[in-house]
Amino acid sequence: MALIHVPLAERSYDILIEAGALDQAGAHLKPYARGGRLIVVTDSHVAQAQFSRVDASLRAAGINALPVILPPGEKTKSWAHLETLIDALLGHEVERSDHIVALGGGVIGDLVGFAAAILKRGCHFIQLPTTLLSQVDSSVGGKTAINSSAGKNLVGSFHQPALVLIDPSTLDTLPPREVRAGYAEVVKYGLIDDPAFFAWCESDGARLLAGDADARNYAISKSVAAKAAIVADDERETSGRRALLNLGHTFGHALEADTGFSDRLLHGEAVAAGMALAFRYSARLGLCPQTDADRVTAHLKAVGLPYDLASARVAADGKALVAHMLHDKKMSAGALPFLLARGIGRTFLSKDVALEDVAAFLDEDRATTN
Ligand SMILES: NC(=O)c1ccc[n+]([C@@H]2O[C@H](COP(=O)([O-])OP(=O)(O)OC[C@H]3O[C@@H](n4cnc5c(N)ncnc54)[C@H](O)[C@@H]3O)[C@@H](O)[C@H]2O)c1
Ligand SMILES: [Zn+2]
Repeated sequence: MALIHVPLAERSYDILIEAGALDQAGAHLKPYARGGRLIVVTDSHVAQAQFSRVDASLRAAGINALPVILPPGEKTKSWAHLETLIDALLGHEVERSDHIVALGGGVIGDLVGFAAAILKRGCHFIQLPTTLLSQVDSSVGGKTAINSSAGKNLVGSFHQPALVLIDPSTLDTLPPREVRAGYAEVVKYGLIDDPAFFAWCESDGARLLAGDADARNYAISKSVAAKAAIVADDERETSGRRALLNLGHTFGHALEADTGFSDRLLHGEAVAAGMALAFRYSARLGLCPQTDADRVTAHLKAVGLPYDLASARVAADGKALVAHMLHDKKMSAGALPFLLARGIGRTFLSKDVALEDVAAFLDEDRATTN
């Protein structure tokens, strides 16, 4: 079992990573069950695939699991479902000292975290992430949110979980396309500041994707440790270090916006193409060796992730994609902060990227990659 601590003073918490952890949920969650019960919020896919494990383990520990089951999908991160969830929690007479359990991917984690942040002016929550993306990224760090008609994640708060319990075996029931999309965020940690981990991805990433338990445990532990260190250093994204986690996301969000934030292009798939674009753009600017950009492209291509506009099936031209970037919430005072790289493991935040140049690069890149 790997145990990673996130040191944040009174908001500190532990992250436990262990195959089979869900079958031990009773022992792990017992200290958090008030009056012999725990409310477990999940979506209908996860309820079908994983809830019985949690339920059986809690029951064996003498805890009654009260499930709240929401529809699956990004649309659940909405005002309407927040209201449904809050009403259900109030119906179960949740108190400020209670811990609400989020069993699911980033959608459930973000929604439950936000509900916990505002219910009775703040109660506790526990993350049981069941997608690779949520295990390596969204369950750690305390960003919670719902979407509004103006865009994604525009309504939310920083609210850290009390505990994160990661069971990599939940990935056995996750569709392979979702696992692969989450893997893009794993690769991201290597590209940000850990070239040895990127090299591991090149040699062993395919094993992880094939379901190898050791490879999963290793990659999840490495990723979570990297994210925890960044969050401990810059909890609210004020110093700029946490912003490094957005590598590939400015390009990626533009691709997601162009494909309507739909199943046509999953978030992780957009991030994969976005990271490859960020590296090729960095190489074009003369900042990064072309060989490093080529390695990034080759690895993403080898594991079946999108690596350019064509493989992401994005038809828009550079100008239209840059227009999407301008709507990005990370735009400050007219300048678009952009994550670029001096090489693999050498990502940095650049504040003076010319958008016409990015548009020209995107058109040129479409014409040259294949
Ligand atoms: N808070 C953060 O820091 C942060 C970071 C990254 C992403 N996010 C958010 O995370 C969300 C995406 O999360 P996601 O990729 O986990 O998507 P998701 O929660 O929608 O899960 C993907 C799909 O897999 C299903 N599923 C989940 N676990 C399963 C399992 N073990 N077996 C079978 N099916 C399963 C879900 O029902 C859903 O259909 C986005 O809303 C994004 O904004 C948040
Ligand atoms: Zn992401």
